[in-house]
Amino acid sequence: MAILDIIQKATGVSALVLLPLVAVGYALLKLLYTGLTCHTKHLPGPWYARFTHLRLKRAVVTGRRSFYIHDLHQKYGPIVRISPTEVAVADLSAFKEIHRIGTKYLKSTWYEDLANFPKKGIFTMRDPKEYGARRKLLAASFSKTYLMTHWESEVRSKAHLCVSKIKDDAIRKGTADVYNWWMLLASDVTAHLSFGESFGMLEAGKANQFMRVLKKLTIGAGIMVELPFLRLLGYIPTPTMQEMFNGNEYILKGADRAVELARSRSGEQNIFAKVIEDSEKEGEGHIDDMDVRVEASNIIIAGTDTTGCTLTYLTWAVLQRPELQKALEKEVATLPEDFVEKDVMELPLLNAIVEETHRLYGAAPSSLPRVVPKGGSHLGGHYIPGDTTVSTQAFTFHRDENVWSDPLTFNPYRWLPGQDGSPAEALSEDAKAAFHPFGVGSRSCVGIHLARMEMRYAVAFLFRECKGLKLSKSTTPETMEFENFFLITPKGHHCHVEFA
Ligand code: HEM
Repeated sequence: MAILDIIQKATGVSALVLLPLVAVGYALLKLLYTGLTCHTKHLPGPWYARFTHLRLKRAVVTGRRSFYIHDLHQKYGPIVRISPTEVAVADLSAFKEIHRIGTKYLKSTWYEDLANFPKKGIFTMRDPKEYGARRKLLAASFSKTYLMTHWESEVRSKAHLCVSKIKDDAIRKGTADVYNWWMLLASDVTAHLSFGESFGMLEAGKANQFMRVLKKLTIGAGIMVELPFLRLLGYIPTPTMQEMFNGNEYILKGADRAVELARSRSGEQNIFAKVIEDSEKEGEGHIDDMDVRVEASNIIIAGTDTTGCTLTYLTWAVLQRPELQKALEKEVATLPEDFVEKDVMELPLLNAIVEETHRLYGAAPSSLPRVVPKGGSHLGGHYIPGDTTVSTQAFTFHRDENVWSDPLTFNPYRWLPGQDGSPAEALSEDAKAAFHPFGVGSRSCVGIHLARMEMRYAVAFLFRECKGLKLSKSTTPETMEFENFFLITPKGHHCHVEFA
């Protein structure tokens, strides 16, 4: 204030006018300093990205980050400065280098900031040793063999129940919201695995209180990581604000049940019973009760909207193409009455449709931020200084016209060389390397086998038991446009179908 007094005396201007002027002056100087000292100023990119994160933040908070970055790649090439400290990478060899097994490019602190829990978990751990031990433990419980032995029949019966609910709504109410039902399926499956008992949301037709709060908490965490000052909203005593910004206490208390069943040696158990047993056997990666609470919540968050949205877009993509729908209905009709996932794995068209959905409508197409190791590195022909965040996004790799023919067209036959007018040759090595709906390398999705199992059962049941579905008028290209907050979701938050 003393400086203000001096300036006020010297200029004769009141402090009320001076204060905002000083604030604006300070902000401009800071911008200038950032721009002049920016370590990535030699890289291609819009001029303003040298000075500020603001344009990128705007894209993030308006749900348009992936499209914004994709457009920048079209304009500036595969290496683009998107903020003073972050570079987007769409170069295939750089992508392989960043994500290879044993990489030195660790996850950025964005993940830690995003998670609003008292302990780190599999999604947020950065230290390779700590992470390696946790990953090993969880990966064993999510391995294909373990899932097939212990969880397949549960997944199958939930997928069947879900499809019967869709059919029932379509018959009785005239329309069914597959977005709602696929979300309930995905959350019921992950909640059952994590807790050890069903949340019964498919039976009830709606999410329970735990799921509703967990969802709001995730939205709140997403807001706080981008705009930390909005943490202040947590002081507003309305239920929504409390659940969004202070809901973690409720969630961690709710997850006590997961701990109870993980420690129980009789009756229903959850995946953490095995995780704890393995950690005690191997003597590494000790798991305490808070770890169980945090990981149970992580698994539900990571496995719900991802699988639910991918199934929604798959249904939407197929129902827009009656020929494809008929071919799929014909294929799934060949399955035996008591089919299992192994039978579905042998259906070429169904699996090609799943892959093509992952390519164009994969639920997690956004930047996966990693940090350049100390000393810097050369990526895509450019030097990138150490500590810079480099992020690759599947959205761009899956639409690269140097890798995919006619990349914007939904064409499952590209996965079935030589069939129905598809290219005679199999996918190129570059296409295989660029395709990564479940992430890539050591930090790739631990739930991949579960997600694939759920999707196979859901698609097989839907197109066997609900022949002749079509999209309702309320579901349009506009309502199905992507909203992109790390994951993608249809803007309309619904996808209505009915019988033709
Ligand atoms: C279609 C469904 C799914 C998609 C598209 C998907 C996608 C992804 C992607 C892209 C990543 C990498 C994130 C990164 O590097 O930042 C990831 C990680 C992860 N996913 Fe999934 N996921 C799906 C389903 C699931 C399911 C069902 C579960 C749990 C049961 C799950 C649990 C996880 C976990 C725990 C991680 C963190 C892995 C780590 O860092 O080691 N996901 N997923």
